[in-house]
Amino acid sequence: MSSDIIPLSVPNLQGNELKYVQETIQQEWVSTAGTFISDFERELAGYVGTQGAVAVQNGTSGLHTALEVLGVEKNDEVIVPTMTFIAAVNPVSYCDAHPIFMDCDDTFGLDAVKLQRFLDNECYMESGQVYNMRTGRPIKAIVVVHIFGNMSNMPSIMEIADNYNISVIEDATEALGTYYTSGGFKGAFAGTIGTIGVYSFNGNKIMTTGGGGMIVSDQSSILERARYLTTQAKNDGLYYTHDEVGYNYRMTNVQAALGLAQLEQIEKFIHTKRENFNKYLEKLNNLPDVHLLPFNDQTRPNYWFYPLWIGEENREDFIEFANNRSVQTRPVWSLIHEQKPYQKAQTYQIEQAFKYQRNIVNIPCSTNLTSDQLDKVVDVITQFVAK
Ligand SMILES: Cc1ncc(COP(=O)(O)O)c(C=O)c1O
Repeated sequence: MSSDIIPLSVPNLQGNELKYVQETIQQEWVSTAGTFISDFERELAGYVGTQGAVAVQNGTSGLHTALEVLGVEKNDEVIVPTMTFIAAVNPVSYCDAHPIFMDCDDTFGLDAVKLQRFLDNECYMESGQVYNMRTGRPIKAIVVVHIFGNMSNMPSIMEIADNYNISVIEDATEALGTYYTSGGFKGAFAGTIGTIGVYSFNGNKIMTTGGGGMIVSDQSSILERARYLTTQAKNDGLYYTHDEVGYNYRMTNVQAALGLAQLEQIEKFIHTKRENFNKYLEKLNNLPDVHLLPFNDQTRPNYWFYPLWIGEENREDFIEFANNRSVQTRPVWSLIHEQKPYQKAQTYQIEQAFKYQRNIVNIPCSTNLTSDQLDKVVDVITQFVAK
């Protein structure tokens, strides 16, 4: 991509990143031990308000670990949304378990009404465990994904999950910093409401460690188990005895140094993202047929991505039109239940996901987007609409 392209979402590394990374190099602590890892875990847990956190290689390994910690194993089933990035679903396959694909609602997250309907009509309870009538297999977990930084309908989802005794994993990889401002979960951050939450610090996220992730929970047994599994399930550090198969999923000190520096700036990033979102809103307000989709109004979102309703008939043309004018945009991921590895998986009443998947593109939202760049994006959208 040439340097004058306005990218969709790129890192902003203007804080203490270089200083902290330099420290790891000067100390020669660059691997999976070092003070930045524990500092980053403590600060992140403090920011979102959980009892603790476990730093991992990326969001995908965090989600895999979360499923393992909850005991998801061969022939179990896990409820997942279809409108998400595939990394929210692949870890179910890593466990030899089976996903059941659900629709989304206007939060872009799991549709709680359909979730309830599915569990009421298609499942049965036996000895405190819910089973899928069609397969006879146990449903062990629900993966809720907070798409584009927008909070899913957690009050309803948690109530349903509690009634059916199912654990909830929050894929909050895109939603670090989003929290409820009203209702029963007022003050609760995305990722801290379910049994386990997972964040990603991939390069396009609200803050980045190049690649990295974090598992959070309020249960110390969960955190301990996650730490154990992500460090090769090592029982002791001298004789290296192992009772289980573990993983090399631990974050490095270099990644954590970046993470600590980025976390110091997260509220500033969210502030900038909100300002830019509001500028887009104002400048695109009078255009017919296109509009930015709103965030959940019971929350302070992190404004990670800016989904623009462009219309199914215009989507491909718009992506090409913008790209030819050096503005990078991106459609929503192809729905996961339609992708080759998952075409035979069970689905339940998927409707809305098609609508959002076909009609939206995301527009440039980096925290270092300049006013001129923002105006150029607005111009390109305006020209397209006027065509
Ligand atoms: C919804 C969702 N889930 C999972 C992931 C996986 O995170 P990572 O890339 O850090 O493995 C991402 C981001 O990449 C994501 O957007």
